[in-house]
Amino acid sequence: MELFDVYSLFDVTPVRARGCRLWDEKGTEYLDLYGGHAVISVGHCHPHYVQALTEQAGRIGFYSNSVRNPLQEELARRIGVASGYEDYSLFLDNSGAESNENALKLASFQTGRDRVVAFRKSFHGRTSGAVAATDNPAIVSPFNANHKVSFCELGDAAAVEEELRGGDVAAVIIEGIQGCGGINIPTAAFLQEMRELCSKYGTALVLDEVQSGYGRTGRFFAHQWAGIRPDIITMGKGIANGFPCGGILIAPWFQARKSMLGTTFGGNYLACAAALAVLDIIEDEGLMANALVCGDYLMDALAPCHSERPSCHSERSRGISPSIKELRGRGLMIGIEFDGPIAEIRRRLLYEDHIFTGVAGNNIIRLLPPLCLTREDCDRFLEAFMKILRRVSPSSK
Ligand SMILES: Cc1ncc(COP(=O)(O)O)c(C=O)c1O
Repeated sequence: MELFDVYSLFDVTPVRARGCRLWDEKGTEYLDLYGGHAVISVGHCHPHYVQALTEQAGRIGFYSNSVRNPLQEELARRIGVASGYEDYSLFLDNSGAESNENALKLASFQTGRDRVVAFRKSFHGRTSGAVAATDNPAIVSPFNANHKVSFCELGDAAAVEEELRGGDVAAVIIEGIQGCGGINIPTAAFLQEMRELCSKYGTALVLDEVQSGYGRTGRFFAHQWAGIRPDIITMGKGIANGFPCGGILIAPWFQARKSMLGTTFGGNYLACAAALAVLDIIEDEGLMANALVCGDYLMDALAPCHSERPSCHSERSRGISPSIKELRGRGLMIGIEFDGPIAEIRRRLLYEDHIFTGVAGNNIIRLLPPLCLTREDCDRFLEAFMKILRRVSPSSK
């Protein structure tokens, strides 16, 4: 049997990893600025994480959610303290898409409504409801498109209000920072308007923090930069550093009902042990602060290459193409948008300089490294990146 061929693969086979480094079967070392798609939050194979998982596997790995699981209770307490949402409740599941699915379902149960408002360039996952709220025709099948989802431009509060006015919208779902759409950051004012509009029309505000959450932007959740409190917050990716885990934080006004939500694997002992170890490491090693420091360092270093900046004109006249059109980011969630395709730049970064990076569309490099990145790691990337930018010519687009 062959694998169902749905992924574009890097031509690298990692066999070992540690911190922000991966090694292939030939022993070549790679710097990881992609974090396995924003999943590796505290670094690969952190000793505390490995020990926590190993010990838990030897104690009890799984039982169903029909018994009390003290690790789930401990995780709820710890996420509450770390995020400042101690008065919310936690439901644990297995992935980002599942979290969004559960959030939309909960909002629909609670409001008795069936419409959703989402945003252009959004990505919320690939399960039925989550993908229906995703603005990408390549991954939304006709079956999924039957869900009642309206899309508004990010930043257009008037358009959102127009949708909410009818009183039939269960949820507005928005990413803390759009990741797959190209690192698009909603302004604080826009998020505050979303909060006000949702309260006014009895609609649940769902913040998808699957990619932007868990300390990546220097706050526990990216929306906390705007000082708002959503009704439901969805999590995934970095929550357990690669052990499958997701969850939603639910505001106190939601009424729980038996069987409303459920899962076989969600919140199992191993996932909880992994997630608790991640919180230990984030706290002990000050990784949220580190994400901000390293993110600012990268943004400051990249800023002079921005094509609209005067200092870049001389570079451009030396024939650099494609050139950087816009830099967007917060903490270690950075998008470098070019005015042309970037496949060649990423190819050289990976195969010549051994640096993994992410991508959005065909012209945005996405940096989503583990939060334990160091200044030396940043310098290694910057040196390689600048060198490549100087060499890439229009013909290599
Ligand atoms: C913002 C956002 N939401 C949801 C998801 C889906 O998460 P998962 O792939 O774990 O289902 C992703 C994945 O990239 C994401 O970036």
